[in-house]
Amino acid sequence: MHFIILLPLLFVLSSALNNNLGLTPPMGWNTWNRYGCDINETVVMTNAEMLGILGLDKLGYRYVNVDDCWNLATRDSMSNRTIVDPERFPSGMKALSDFVHDRGLKFGIYSSAGTLTCEGRAGSLGYEDLDAQDYVSWGVDYLKYDNCFNEGIPSFERYQTMKKALEKAAHNHTIFYSICNWGLEEVWQWGNETGNSWRTAGDIFNSWESVKYNFEVNQLHPDVAGPGGWNDPDMLEVGNGGLSHTEERTHFALWAVVKAPLILGCNLNTISNRSLSIISNKELIKLNQDSKGDQAVCVHNCHSLKDSEDVQVFGGWNKDNGGYYGLVAVNWNDLESKPISIDFKSLGLTKSSEEYCSVYDLWNKGVHIGNYQGKYLIPNIDPHDNVALKIKCKRKASSLE
Ligand code: GLA
Repeated sequence: MHFIILLPLLFVLSSALNNNLGLTPPMGWNTWNRYGCDINETVVMTNAEMLGILGLDKLGYRYVNVDDCWNLATRDSMSNRTIVDPERFPSGMKALSDFVHDRGLKFGIYSSAGTLTCEGRAGSLGYEDLDAQDYVSWGVDYLKYDNCFNEGIPSFERYQTMKKALEKAAHNHTIFYSICNWGLEEVWQWGNETGNSWRTAGDIFNSWESVKYNFEVNQLHPDVAGPGGWNDPDMLEVGNGGLSHTEERTHFALWAVVKAPLILGCNLNTISNRSLSIISNKELIKLNQDSKGDQAVCVHNCHSLKDSEDVQVFGGWNKDNGGYYGLVAVNWNDLESKPISIDFKSLGLTKSSEEYCSVYDLWNKGVHIGNYQGKYLIPNIDPHDNVALKIKCKRKASSLE
């Protein structure tokens, strides 16, 4: 009896950071990828409104995160508090946070575990308690904490100091803690006990090569991620124009299947319908938000991705919707279309080649493609394109859909 009552409690306590946040990968929007330092409160407000207008909030995109360049380079000489840039954010952070909250969204902010941020604004090193108190008083729900101007102090120490400051300031107001130390200093060893997510690579850029690189580095330590703490290959570039439509599809599907944070980084006021339909794909979002939270791993053709000109398959088990295997097969080849055979037995989905599996197409509203014995052959994946599938297998074909 007691054991049964304790079980769910133990599960919650074992989550990273014990703040009960990030039980599925965070979803939202951030200023940096599209606007860089060129931000102000209007940019944030219009994009926050667009999350609602485009129905993205209902799909789970809730965080509205202000990245670098919201504060001044120097602190208040009397109080040592950070100063919100009065020209860019004349209404102040509390008002902006209220605006965001009034729309049913959550508000995020940025700082650096250094003396300055990467763009030379006041960082939080040495002022963690003061800054954490300000964030809590503004109603901040998410902190992205960068690594510039870090004075050579070990990451673990600096990121733990802010973790403790957030906990101390909290007063029941927990803040999602996003570690941004670019995958350095073996963050996979301490990221999970310190934050709700940790960057696994340097900055993503608006190009296919960059998407590919950040994805590959993010696959080095899949086991350390899960509910409460996520590997973060950086924010999405979908809608920013540097990727073809095909590449945007693959970027999104890969981030979804490996349970990466889905933080949009484009101008939602001008996003094309094609890019919007990619980020609005409910089936891929469900896969990303699965409660098991297992990062998919490479299961076919798993030599180095950098040199790969083949189709690689990334797959893993999911718990929701009765449990299923989710996979994304991606053709890295730049010129040639390629086939791929999804062999159920070698992926561990069936015990014998006699068994049948139902295959569903995640890029087409999850429709049932058919039931297959032994394997499912995909005749053709275009260069840089992907196929995203949900697979359920049973011993008897009659018990399948
Ligand atoms: C670093 C981070 C980026 C972004 C910029 C802002 O480069 O990795 O994601 O926050 O700083 O200056």
